[in-house]
Amino acid sequence: MAVLLTGGAGFIGSHTALVLLEAGQDVVVYDNLSNASRESLTRVEHLTGRSLTFVEGDIRDTALMRQTLEAENIDSVIHFAGLKAVGESVSQPLAYYDNNVGGTLSLCQAMEAVGVKTLVFSSSATVYAESRNMPLAETAPTGRPTNPYGSSKLMIEWLLTDLQAADPSWSIALLRYFNPVGSHESGQIGEDPNGQPNNLLPFITQVGVGRLQELSVYGSDYPTADGTGVRDYIHVMDLAAGHLKALRYVAGQGGLYTWNLGTGRGYSVLEMIKAFEKISEKPLPYRLVDRRAGDIAECWADAGKADRELDWRAERGLEDIMRDAWRWQTDNPAGFGQA
Ligand code: NAD
Ligand code: WQD
Repeated sequence: MAVLLTGGAGFIGSHTALVLLEAGQDVVVYDNLSNASRESLTRVEHLTGRSLTFVEGDIRDTALMRQTLEAENIDSVIHFAGLKAVGESVSQPLAYYDNNVGGTLSLCQAMEAVGVKTLVFSSSATVYAESRNMPLAETAPTGRPTNPYGSSKLMIEWLLTDLQAADPSWSIALLRYFNPVGSHESGQIGEDPNGQPNNLLPFITQVGVGRLQELSVYGSDYPTADGTGVRDYIHVMDLAAGHLKALRYVAGQGGLYTWNLGTGRGYSVLEMIKAFEKISEKPLPYRLVDRRAGDIAECWADAGKADRELDWRAERGLEDIMRDAWRWQTDNPAGFGQA
């Protein structure tokens, strides 16, 4: 039996594929390569000494999805495939609802048709309603996200909740990621955003290697210790390990489970810059500018539920994050582009 990773060639999916292979799982990756390189999987195979099966396809192709589930003897799915650029979602809402919500609907229809009913879903802390009460627990209210990307994630949570309520034989884990960052310690795989990065850490490392000139710090007047935004940055390898724990917990159990995957503490933008400068041993050029529309002051997880129920907790700290992210960027200045 094998685990199918939709979007498994991407940033988090490729790291999770590595962890699953190292744990002895058989892995099938299904990805349309719209935001990933096949090279990431070649490197995962090299790093683990194990092979995986790759199927190039779109999750909206229900027939191919169904055919793959049957042909590859799949017993569970980790669903990473999706568009994730917040700003892009505002200008292209239909593309996000079609790809993320429509794609998930197609996936679930294919799974139901062949009787595969164990699913781990990549959700996001963005589904939580704006709150000043940190840390955020799984019981915190969800709300109307400020962008179509976040709304697509919440809609998918509703879809999966209704599906499991109608058919209790479904085993579903909703994993709410906070801010995934970093790279595998080898520096061989990592975050490789298309175009100019939206997220903080890839922007910092691209400034570090000279691909970008300077970092704009979005807002220095937030009600935080140093005025800059505070987030819960979780190492992608810790996040990957959380998927293995969640999969093993829910597989075949029936039921719907929700877990935050975060570290339980927040760091400000200026703290991230300082941590990067320490690891890279070079000053980072930055400028304090106005807030970015839609940003919140602070957000970090109450990570206790995953600790108690999955025996999972983040083990890597800020120094590990910066060291690994910097190694990936310096060893791959153009990401997988040069591969
Ligand atoms: P990513 O873009 O690196 O990976 C997504 C993968 O899905 C890519 O390989 C892409 O080619 C593939 N894909 C997209 N649409 C597809 C489709 N229709 N059919 C087949 N493949 C498709 O992103 P990531 O950072 O690895 O995120 C993975 C998942 O986690 C996404 O669903 C994202 O929304 C979610 N998430 C990410 C973050 C984050 O900050 N990175 C935070 C919370 C949640
Ligand atoms: C982090 C902090 C910015 C860039 C986003 C999505 C969320 C999830 C994770 C998918 C904030 C500041 C950033 C820059 C900056 N993705 N910043 N200059 O906004 O917390 O979350 O990614 O699910 O849905 O919203 O992450 O890395 O963009 O920002 O000052 O060039 O860094 O203001 O305080 P964010 P981020």
